[in-house]
Amino acid sequence: MSAVTEQSLVSSVKAWFEDYIRRFSSDESLVQRNMDLKAEHTRKVCEAILDIGGSLGLSGEDLGLAEASALLHDIGRFEQFRQYRTFMDARSEDHAAIGVKVIQGSGVLDGVEPAAAEILVRVVAYHNRAALPSGENERCLFFLKLLRDADKVDIWRVVTEYYSNGGDGKRNQSIELNLPDTDRISDSVYEALMNGKLVQMADLRTLQDFKLLQIGWIYDVNFPRTFQIVREMKYLEKIRGALPQGSVRIAEIYGRARGFLELNAPSV
Ligand SMILES: [Fe+2]
Repeated sequence: MSAVTEQSLVSSVKAWFEDYIRRFSSDESLVQRNMDLKAEHTRKVCEAILDIGGSLGLSGEDLGLAEASALLHDIGRFEQFRQYRTFMDARSEDHAAIGVKVIQGSGVLDGVEPAAAEILVRVVAYHNRAALPSGENERCLFFLKLLRDADKVDIWRVVTEYYSNGGDGKRNQSIELNLPDTDRISDSVYEALMNGKLVQMADLRTLQDFKLLQIGWIYDVNFPRTFQIVREMKYLEKIRGALPQGSVRIAEIYGRARGFLELNAPSV
């Protein structure tokens, strides 16, 4: 039996999280807007992970661990933006690594059963990798898959809400990664997606590439409930709607991704 029960694990991590992010509030509206974006993202990833974890019939203890991982996964984002004014890891530091340092330096997991604390630190460290790590144990991989699915579900929410408000002139360079808004699609992006593979961040050259990368996350989804959420929320359709309509390549990429989704989403 752990020293900290699953309920107190979640409530203590949640209280710590709210207290921690309060230190980053700022009078500068650009900074505050981006801090709010990440705080809201974290809360929504918690909701998504409980939804997906619930669909798998997890025990209360494991659901608590999953929710704690969601609370901590992007904790490095706050320090990253404070120091570098960007969420681009390539132009600053790996936000997952910052997160691990924050967790370890804060004592937030003091008193948590060592095996659970170890899982939390590892899934935070791995959550933004291009692929799952090799050589990790099954339990750690399971929680990592859950977190990656829940994280994607909410990033899809963030970007599709953003695209649907795109006409109001409030462009947020932190979401668009400072990429140029031209119609060009890079060959490497097209090829990866037509092979059912994820697009590498390093291959992004235009905003269209980035939107297509977001469609391609469907190839990295792990659980049936996640596919179901993507279908219910029409995330692929919404991203498609934000892309140029006449392009044959975009139609091909979208068609393949939709087919993959239908194949994998259980009907209700
Ligand atoms: Fe992250």
